Amino acid sequence: MIFSPDTLPATAVAEQSAYHGFLREYPTYTGTLMLDEWRDREYSRLDTTQQIYLDYTGGGLYADSQLTKHLNLLRRNVYGNPHSINPTSQAMTDLIEETRTAIMHHFNASPDEYLVIFTPNASGALKLVGEAYPFRPGSRYLLTFDNHNSVNGIREFARAKGAKFTYVPLTTPDLRIQAETLTRLLQTANLQYHNLFAYPAQSNFSGVKHSLDWVVQAQARGWDVLLDAAAFVPTNPLDLSNTKPDFVSLSFYKMFGYPTGVGALLLRKPMLAKLQRPWFAGGTVNFVTTQGEAHYLAANEARFEDGTVNYLSIPAVKIGLKHLQTVGMDMISERVRCLTGWLLRQLLELRHSNGRPMIRIYGPANSDIRGGTITLNFYDPDEHLLDYRRIEELATNEKISLRTGCFCNPGAGEMAEGLTHEDMLAGLAAGSSLTLSHFMQIIQQRGNKSAGAIRVSLGLASNFADVYRFWQFASTFRDQTNLSIGQVTFHIESCRQIRNSS
Ligand SMILES: Cc1ncc(COP(=O)(O)O)c(C=O)c1O
Repeated sequence: MIFSPDTLPATAVAEQSAYHGFLREYPTYTGTLMLDEWRDREYSRLDTTQQIYLDYTGGGLYADSQLTKHLNLLRRNVYGNPHSINPTSQAMTDLIEETRTAIMHHFNASPDEYLVIFTPNASGALKLVGEAYPFRPGSRYLLTFDNHNSVNGIREFARAKGAKFTYVPLTTPDLRIQAETLTRLLQTANLQYHNLFAYPAQSNFSGVKHSLDWVVQAQARGWDVLLDAAAFVPTNPLDLSNTKPDFVSLSFYKMFGYPTGVGALLLRKPMLAKLQRPWFAGGTVNFVTTQGEAHYLAANEARFEDGTVNYLSIPAVKIGLKHLQTVGMDMISERVRCLTGWLLRQLLELRHSNGRPMIRIYGPANSDIRGGTITLNFYDPDEHLLDYRRIEELATNEKISLRTGCFCNPGAGEMAEGLTHEDMLAGLAAGSSLTLSHFMQIIQQRGNKSAGAIRVSLGLASNFADVYRFWQFASTFRDQTNLSIGQVTFHIESCRQIRNSS
């Protein structure tokens, strides 16, 4: 339907005028307008079901054509378990190898330098590194406060093997790496042993893009570098011919929604000899004897792929990568940058009637060197925190998909929310039955602090209407208090949410 300005409802006129203002502020957005057509064609289910999807850091969205292409491939061919010479197995092996090549190509990685190892997800890739890295007394594990739990978890492998681990703090309120501290800590590699430095290319908490220059700097000082690229690669190009981390972890569903259950570890070849696999499994060995009680591991990526890979889903990765390449990562990146910049400013300008800000943003307040993930909390006119769980519930009523809690990134959360070592000890004193709700109560009593936040994140199919609707929703909290917004009906036991059965 075509509306003339006279027949447009007032709300649509306001949105149009906001859109024109946005285009004036972000003129480069017009270079991404083909993504609107893309959305109409490939992601029309968003608009037909009136969903406002703002959880791209949780999971990307798949395009219609990805599903069609993948299903057609499966329907038209006969595929068997790979790695045998029978024709159906061979066909599958070929597709898997083609997908490895497509991944290398997407990240501009040379086959002389990198291997692609298929894993169930980014966490699977991180675990492979953690369990096989030759930690020992004297070696070091250095990691930033800003890390997903699957990177934090590697510290338990380091601890079990007697290695020392150290966290690099963040600046507040921007939540960037404290450069001076990191520079100093990078000088502490123990060159007699192995040293691992791990950080995310982009924060899944604050959206901060941490400089890829740290890779080179750390390597020059004797560190092997693990770059967790899971939150970065969905909206940014990563060029492994420029920056060459020793390990790169990612999940493909975060990049293009489908398939789930496939991730990758990109491994720099010299690391092959360094990693010590703690076991062997079907598919990982060239030779095993029961009587001889010995085994020889496979020489290449197969050494790390335990059992049968997710072979029917893997070809969908090649289809997904091609889908991204039809528009290009630069265009996605630019679109997300413009929408994020606009949304950030609008949110920061929201005021209660008494002039006090309604929202606090954790992380950079503008779109410089950051991605499309915005984490925030709402406050009432007297600066009391509004319950983010209730806000998620109210967003759900408006078909807005956002995420709340700690996002499996406790370190960035603790820094952002000003939680101290003493606060954490007070929580831990409650014992192992401590739940997130109980911890939130403890923390609230220790000075109106928050243990969690609201995260909205943008991605390849985001458009102006998405950010505008979220801003409208956020505006409804003007002059609201916890009493007026009502009580939450969710239980949060940990980072996962469980709805009350009553
Ligand atoms: C930065 C980062 N690393 C790792 C992960 C873990 O990914 P997965 O749950 O797919 O293993 C995530 C997931 O949100 C993430 O954002």
